[in-house]
Amino acid sequence: MKIKKSQFVTSAVKREQYPESDLPEIAVVGRSNVGKSSLINMLLNRKNLARTSSTPGKTQLINFFDIDGKFTLVDLPGYGYARVSKEQKKTWGTIIETYLKTRKNLLEVILLVDLRHKPTAEDVEMYKWIKTYGFNGIVVGTKYDKIKKSQLQKHVKIIRDTLEMEEHAVLAMTSTMDRYGKYEVWDIFNELFEVNGYDVHFERQQS
Ligand code: GTP
Ligand code: MG
Repeated sequence: MKIKKSQFVTSAVKREQYPESDLPEIAVVGRSNVGKSSLINMLLNRKNLARTSSTPGKTQLINFFDIDGKFTLVDLPGYGYARVSKEQKKTWGTIIETYLKTRKNLLEVILLVDLRHKPTAEDVEMYKWIKTYGFNGIVVGTKYDKIKKSQLQKHVKIIRDTLEMEEHAVLAMTSTMDRYGKYEVWDIFNELFEVNGYDVHFERQQS
């Protein structure tokens, strides 16, 4: 199938605000400014469906996007923004933890890390949480265009080692500048649908 229509469903903070759904769901999480919203837009061939900004820490809500009534893509609030209070950090933790813990139709969580930087303590903690709640955790490196290719392997190793990723764990790489890695991420999604028994498969599509 091809993507015909992707649309914003709703924003939520509390559990009662989540949309009721039996559709498979995939969530994207990561530091503020890592490129979560940009990645979602790239995957859906949209310019600004998920709102992006150069002001980090803006998306403090869980945003749900429906793709052709077949599955839901979720943009989780970013963390690691320096200028937030302890109180806000705690709230963020509760928002994410509640979502991971209670969302029954959630298939997998995609952790985004900036390929240029060593994952932070919060990234490491997030990856552990993802595993604690029973997901594999798929790591996607962002901003591939920003890294010198001669440096790539070194950075990949730092990311793998810092997160303590298992040897077979996938680390996909993407750039929203030239859409690098878009199909690899779709292949990952398609496989998730398949192994979880959903009859959903999206074709490769030029934007
Ligand atoms: P929050 O919503 O604040 O948590 O951030 P976010 O993770 O959604 O990041 P967002 O998609 O808004 O991107 C942050 C900035 O990084 C924007 O200026 C994007 O244009 C830029 N950006 C995202 N992906 C890439 C990429 O692959 N390459 C480059 N060069 N810039 C990118
Ligand atoms: Mg965002």
